[in-house]
Amino acid sequence: MKTVLITGSTSGIGAETARLFAKNGFSVIINGRDEKRGQATAKEVGGIFIKADVTVPNQVVKLFNQIKSLDVLINNVGGVVGNDFFDKAKEEDLQKSFNANFFSAFYCSQQASKIIKNGAIVNVASICGFGMYPAGPIGLPIYSAAKAALLNLSQNMAKLLAPNIRVNAVVPGYTKTGPTGLYMSLLVKAKLNPQTLVGRINDLKETASVIYMAATNEAMTGSQIVVDGGALVK
Ligand SMILES: NC(=O)c1ccc[n+]([C@@H]2O[C@H](COP(=O)([O-])OP(=O)(O)OC[C@H]3O[C@@H](n4cnc5c(N)ncnc54)[C@H](OP(=O)(O)O)[C@@H]3O)[C@@H](O)[C@H]2O)c1
Repeated sequence: MKTVLITGSTSGIGAETARLFAKNGFSVIINGRDEKRGQATAKEVGGIFIKADVTVPNQVVKLFNQIKSLDVLINNVGGVVGNDFFDKAKEEDLQKSFNANFFSAFYCSQQASKIIKNGAIVNVASICGFGMYPAGPIGLPIYSAAKAALLNLSQNMAKLLAPNIRVNAVVPGYTKTGPTGLYMSLLVKAKLNPQTLVGRINDLKETASVIYMAATNEAMTGSQIVVDGGALVK
């Protein structure tokens, strides 16, 4: 049985991706900081929960010390954390965002590359990583820059880890997470109306299915797969 570790899978896109991998016969490792939600999600998918803040290097090392073998890593942790206004953001806001959206993936991939023999890494980026936040005047310059760095890292890793580990980036647009989803709550708070060609935002399952495909399609590496309802071209 193949094993997948999904960072930030106690809720949102990560938890939905965990459900999909479990349905397809993977042994699933749930990760997050919230013990209660983590244990509940692990129980639901028949997997295990390992608590760790993946922005902290020694917690990442401890997390990987508990994993005997691994086939797939999904670097899903991220979001709009901290103050993301260009004129107001402080050093700690920049640090927080890059920790969540870039460094977490770097630390986890570094560890995973030592134990994945023949498998895949998927980095969950965002359409913001291709430029400006397309839905309004707020910009999200820090989040966007951190996701751009993640897209760059994905392509470097694809080259460095070939041929044994395929590395792809999934580039979602607006995805309907629960009320705890920071990204969604920010959209609601800012009263932004996401524009897409399909006239609605992604369902969790639609984003999760692309993450699953990027991990399991053996012809794919170094790819950036957009799933955004056409938001980028609207
Ligand atoms: N939702 C969207 O519209 C959208 C669009 C484009 C891209 N994305 C990207 O998709 C990914 C998932 O987004 P989401 O909307 O599903 O987020 P979410 O609902 O806020 O969920 C984030 C998950 O990550 C965990 N987490 C946060 N910080 C962590 C840390 N330092 N260490 C370990 N776990 C941590 C949280 O659980 P705990 O509280 O248990 O730690 C939670 O399970 C993110 O990278 C986001 O940038 C989302």
